Amino acid sequence: EYVIVNGEFVERSQAKVDIEDRGFQFGDGVYEVIRVYNGKMFTADEHLERLHVSGEKIGLKIPYSVEELKVQLAELIIKNDLKLGTIYMQFTRGVSPRNHPFPAETIAPGFTANIKHVGRPSENMDNGVKALLKEDVRWLLCDVKSLNLLGNLLAKQKAVAAGCFEAIQHRGETVTEGSASNISIVKDGKVFTHPATNLILNGITRRVFLDLCERNQIPFAEEAFTLTDLSEADEVFLSSTTAEIMPIIQINDKPVGAGASGPVTKKLQELFQQEIE
Ligand code: PDD
Repeated sequence: EYVIVNGEFVERSQAKVDIEDRGFQFGDGVYEVIRVYNGKMFTADEHLERLHVSGEKIGLKIPYSVEELKVQLAELIIKNDLKLGTIYMQFTRGVSPRNHPFPAETIAPGFTANIKHVGRPSENMDNGVKALLKEDVRWLLCDVKSLNLLGNLLAKQKAVAAGCFEAIQHRGETVTEGSASNISIVKDGKVFTHPATNLILNGITRRVFLDLCERNQIPFAEEAFTLTDLSEADEVFLSSTTAEIMPIIQINDKPVGAGASGPVTKKLQELFQQEIE
């Protein structure tokens, strides 16, 4: 297996990261996960542009253009003969003696990328998954795809320990997003999802399905919804690069709607499928 370390291709067993990399010590960096279908990156521009935006928001300049990154990642796919899977990539604020203030700008960011061969989660996409409600205790820059994921991990683990696939986070009455996905509901045929504010990550899959709604006359609104709206929803689904569009059929101990995947979720899955073919 080949990985990228600071722009170089190396055998994974030879790859080295300094113990004083700020990503390792502080979670000081940003990342992306990109889907690969049929050996090609899906929505690569959107992911790599978001990476640049995440970097800008924390004062970390990504030293490669979107085009340069695409060339490197395409080579990573070929070198690993990746057909179906994901690319994980991250940029940290580089290596420097541990100290909270940012190091001098002459310190080069640390860049690593690696791939995973992984299929689509067909069973969960067909049958749906369970979710657990969890107060959103994260910080207020959730729009940054930051390496600091402890808040997300605590939410996910609580859900997994309860036999659920995902946590649905809420700030008081308002539903924000999952631990590693965006959350949407369907009520009377209309899709609702939290607007792209600082309280959620503006998911690329979210943008894809909103665009599909637009192009296929499916009513939608980027409007925050409440826990009451959630419990009265006809359908609930999550979306992410790895999970695609996945029905949520039970929340805590209560079935969503009829307790099975609903027609709007299925329609969006069908349209999404056409996008990736
Ligand atoms: N997670 N919200 C959060 C907190 C996320 O971590 C993710 C993605 C999303 C969905 O974004 P997108 O559609 O761009 O994947 C929303 C990735 C997959 C991860 O951390 O593995």
